[in-house]
Amino acid sequence: MLEVRGLSVDYLSNGTALHAVENVSFKVEKGRSIGLVGESGCGKTTTMLSLLRLLPADGRIVSGQILYDGMDLLQLSEHEMRGYRWNRIAIVFQGAMNALNPVRKIGDQIAEAIQLHDRLDNRETRQRVGELMEMVGIAPERARQYPHQFSGGMRQRAMIAMSLACNPDILIADEPTTALDVMIQAQILDLLQQLQSQLGLSIVLVTHDLGVVAELCDDVLVMYGGKVAEYGDVDTIFNNPAHPYTRRLLEAFPDVDSPTSTLASIPGYPPPLDNLPAGCRFEPRCYRKTDLCTAVSPDVIEIKPRHFVACHHAEE
Ligand SMILES: Nc1ncnc2c1ncn2[C@@H]1O[C@H](COP(=O)(O)OP(=O)(O)O)[C@@H](O)[C@H]1O
Ligand SMILES: [Mg+2]
Repeated sequence: MLEVRGLSVDYLSNGTALHAVENVSFKVEKGRSIGLVGESGCGKTTTMLSLLRLLPADGRIVSGQILYDGMDLLQLSEHEMRGYRWNRIAIVFQGAMNALNPVRKIGDQIAEAIQLHDRLDNRETRQRVGELMEMVGIAPERARQYPHQFSGGMRQRAMIAMSLACNPDILIADEPTTALDVMIQAQILDLLQQLQSQLGLSIVLVTHDLGVVAELCDDVLVMYGGKVAEYGDVDTIFNNPAHPYTRRLLEAFPDVDSPTSTLASIPGYPPPLDNLPAGCRFEPRCYRKTDLCTAVSPDVIEIKPRHFVACHHAEE
């Protein structure tokens, strides 16, 4: 349904191009869910914003294709792109539940999301608001309440309702449970799972938590330093992780309550974009590194059918 091929994205900073995402490829298949994991700063949000062509002003897609049913979204005019954005592919932005307008009622904000795209009259809009709220488990009478009267979990439900306003086929959820407590996280994940089966959605779940991926996803894409480290179905990746980074991540299972940029079991930090290693980006932190890793960046190779790894020593 959606296939990303060789996506590379730069941010222009003081005249230099920072390579935030490089040569990333994956597929979002109909009715399946894919988890996108990796430490903070590895390019997850940049990749997701690229799918919708909603990068910030200093971001540039420098190469690649984003094929939706065979149509390259990167070749469309901005006008044509509007037929896909929200209507086919929608996103719950990272941190958006904290960006609701504090002085507007929740129901009005959902109505606004609908009217932005659909020409419905007031009565039809109100009905659609009701449907969406029911879909995400918010009681209809709460439409008249303001964001401060909503808990974090309820605000996230409202954001999910807005993202579904135009009946998308693909829903991207960028760290939808970060900053929610564990009970509420589980409820939001249940909701996503339920929406997936009820609406036949494909879900792209961005998270730094592999536990969440294990529970909810069919496929997993592990990113490191803007590149694909490992990609395959969840069973394969969890049972036979081939990339040292994935192995360390699986050992770490970071505490969901405290997202950090480093993981206890992986000393060090991801490489800064303005000073990327010449060879493998994980090399400075890798327990298996050899001279080859220092010198040469590994290509992504398919070591088994549908199991992709970027490591010189993946098959050892
Ligand atoms: N608007 C921007 N301008 C310059 N650099 C950016 C911008 N947005 C993100 N970056 C950088 O790009 C890299 C990837 O960021 P991001 O996609 O947000 O990662 P993630 O979502 O995995 O945490 C980071 O190094 C981040 O600092
Ligand atoms: Mg992010």
